[in-house]
Amino acid sequence: MSVRRILSVVGARPNFIKLGPVNESLARRGEVEHLIVHTGQHYDPSMSDTFFRELSIPEPSYNLGVGSGSHSYQIGAVIQRLEPILAELRPDLVLVYGDVNSTVAAALVAVKDSVPLAHVEAGLRSFDRTMPEETNRVVTDQIADILFAPSRDAVGNLTREGISSGRIQFVGNVMIDSLVRMLPRARALDSARRHGLQPDEFVVVTLHRPSNVDDPGALREIVSALSDMSRTRPVVFPVHPRTRGRLDGNGFQNAAGVQLLEPLPYLEMLALVADAGLVITDSGGVQEETTYLGVPCLTVRRNTERPITCSEGTNRLVECQCDALVSAAAQATRPIHAPAIARWDGRAAERIVAVLLDDARFD
Ligand code: UD1
Repeated sequence: MSVRRILSVVGARPNFIKLGPVNESLARRGEVEHLIVHTGQHYDPSMSDTFFRELSIPEPSYNLGVGSGSHSYQIGAVIQRLEPILAELRPDLVLVYGDVNSTVAAALVAVKDSVPLAHVEAGLRSFDRTMPEETNRVVTDQIADILFAPSRDAVGNLTREGISSGRIQFVGNVMIDSLVRMLPRARALDSARRHGLQPDEFVVVTLHRPSNVDDPGALREIVSALSDMSRTRPVVFPVHPRTRGRLDGNGFQNAAGVQLLEPLPYLEMLALVADAGLVITDSGGVQEETTYLGVPCLTVRRNTERPITCSEGTNRLVECQCDALVSAAAQATRPIHAPAIARWDGRAAERIVAVLLDDARFD
């Protein structure tokens, strides 16, 4: 495949963290033009601009300005607005990342316009179709030409779905590439101490999944658990805009004892997670980051598309229930050694670029 111009389409916070190292590796090789389109799914400066700045990602060629709305609205708007831009930019390949609505929408446009499509972070499955991201994953993987898998279990999922081995490349985890590159800068911020926290003695919380925050009963269980934990150690909670709306709407503006913060920039968040004694999350990327860092993690979900973080890492799934959360938090301890997962080594983006430019293979 002769590739001279690559278009990355991104839209939401975790996409930007995955784009950073791919952009850097492409720029280092200097052999292709790399263009970026931002769908505008995430638009608050704290959810978007700061990530571009910290990860040294250049200004996108276009921002589609899609914004918030229902899933069908977001997907439909990306499709409509991206199509003419794809016709204008005429890339040789479209790269999409992760599992958000912008991912599947951009994938559909590429395929409908006969532009080769590659998916970064292919093959993850929660096997839970009530989770909006699961449909995005399955559809994107079925239609992509090249599937960049982060872990062996992801390769297995793709193979079981009938995807030929020639389309699958086990390159590793680009989220960990960003972490490896940025950790020294993050540590230099000394965030924990600046927030008045002692390393290893505080809890960091991130929650935004509809299943946890849109259901007032579930949210109440979580807030009670966090308030309980905050009696014995500090609990800091950088709040996603969606969650902020739900906390305010349900009268939890002041979850007693819990320090509610604005969404944090990538470096600041990484610094806090690296120093935390425990992380409580429902995010995908945070399950991976804590595993790499050897920080205990409780994931408030019934399932995870990243099971390797439980089987080989520091992650544990916990019911959205106050007592279950409090008791799991009390039992969580740091492992003696941080887990080492195959190809979570900071070189996934380099492998992706080798596949795209050199026709290399990573089985
Ligand atoms: C999306 C992804 C999810 C990912 C998450 C990371 C889908 C289906 N979901 O969820 O997989 O883990 O991003 O954050 O694509 N909002 C703002 N400002 C913003 C963005 C969102 O205020 O910049 C608020 C709006 O009220 C919006 C809500 O957050 O309606 C939800 O945003 P949306 O992009 O629909 O989904 P996320 O929950 O962020």
